[in-house]
Amino acid sequence: MNSSFISRRAREVPKSGIREMFNIAQRLKDVIDLSLGEPDFETPPHIIKAAIEAMKKGYTHYTPNKGLIEFREAVAKKLKLENHIDADPETEVIATVGSMGALSLAMLTIIDPGDEILIPSPGYASYKSQVLMAGGKPIPYRLKEDDEFQPDVEEISEMITDRTKAILINSPSNPTGMVFSYDVIKEIADLAADENLVVISDEAYERIIYENAYHVSLASLPGMMHRTISIFTFSKTYAMTGWRIGYAVADKEIISEMTKLQEHLVAHPSSISQIAAIAALTGPDHYVKMMINEYAERRQIIIRGLSKISNIRFLKSLGAFYIFPNISMFRMSSREFTMHLLEDAGVIVVPGTAFGRFGEGYIRISYSIPRERLKEALERIAESVERLK
Ligand SMILES: Cc1ncc(COP(=O)(O)O)c(C=O)c1O
Repeated sequence: MNSSFISRRAREVPKSGIREMFNIAQRLKDVIDLSLGEPDFETPPHIIKAAIEAMKKGYTHYTPNKGLIEFREAVAKKLKLENHIDADPETEVIATVGSMGALSLAMLTIIDPGDEILIPSPGYASYKSQVLMAGGKPIPYRLKEDDEFQPDVEEISEMITDRTKAILINSPSNPTGMVFSYDVIKEIADLAADENLVVISDEAYERIIYENAYHVSLASLPGMMHRTISIFTFSKTYAMTGWRIGYAVADKEIISEMTKLQEHLVAHPSSISQIAAIAALTGPDHYVKMMINEYAERRQIIIRGLSKISNIRFLKSLGAFYIFPNISMFRMSSREFTMHLLEDAGVIVVPGTAFGRFGEGYIRISYSIPRERLKEALERIAESVERLK
């Protein structure tokens, strides 16, 4: 087809940085994939049962564009209890198509052409694309290993211009696996208030944290609810990536605009997924605890395994199911190193540059994979790295 048919907007959005790797992996045998960005568990059975019952009970029609009120009420209860956020289920909550759906609605709601949005780098790759799709300008702020990948709020404040509209934060963080401290969250809140900025807070991994780490929702800080769009999902906590269900919480005016846009984009997330999500929030929690405990065991395996490999340096991540080792001592780009691991060890990891230019010198390893496979992958990496010396 004639490429002049393609909009500038579509052309501007970058292709995924990891496609090339998967194409190569297709040709290889017995590859261990440590690149997964989703739980390897099945959705807990009571959630599946609720979805089947929902279909039988006739939840097969359109729902309100904001989502079913039962869904929003269950969410508001959870927000109060777990996130210390007081949200009115009638006006301040919207059900979305995963957190991706919430992110895109948030961007479309607040961005005017040329508005600048501060996004983390390394950070989840969709942030940049979502900002571009909404006509904004993504401005990466650097998360440095020396700061344990916590944002440097002073540096961020120096990046603010009269076009800056919002700052996006993501804790627990993909790809670094780090959890922002209360102090950092508070500093960001103060900065946003001083500079009259919106905060978009992506809390996709809120429950998946280890040791004594704790999750702070920025919107729970005094006076922050009205300038924060908090984004949550069922994908990671409940192993429900395919169900495409999440939600956003914000001031009623923002939610009203997001609802209007959602009506014309996708109408609403699946009615069946909304009912399943209510079961997730109100049903037994032991499946979630089991999954988190299992990630915690795997995290120990990966920390022990990587510690034995010389020339790989890493911080012990405290959240999500990622670790983000520094491989710069090998004097290879993160892409070259990743390709080496794939071709020499049959192990797939993600180059840090897939998460922005400040990801150079790092790789992301996901431990959303059974323990035995993880152990084998670590052995293969150790042997393969020896061959690089
Ligand atoms: C930080 C972060 N935000 C959002 C998402 C999107 O998740 P979903 O749309 O399934 O809720 C992901 C998925 O990997 C993620 O890592």
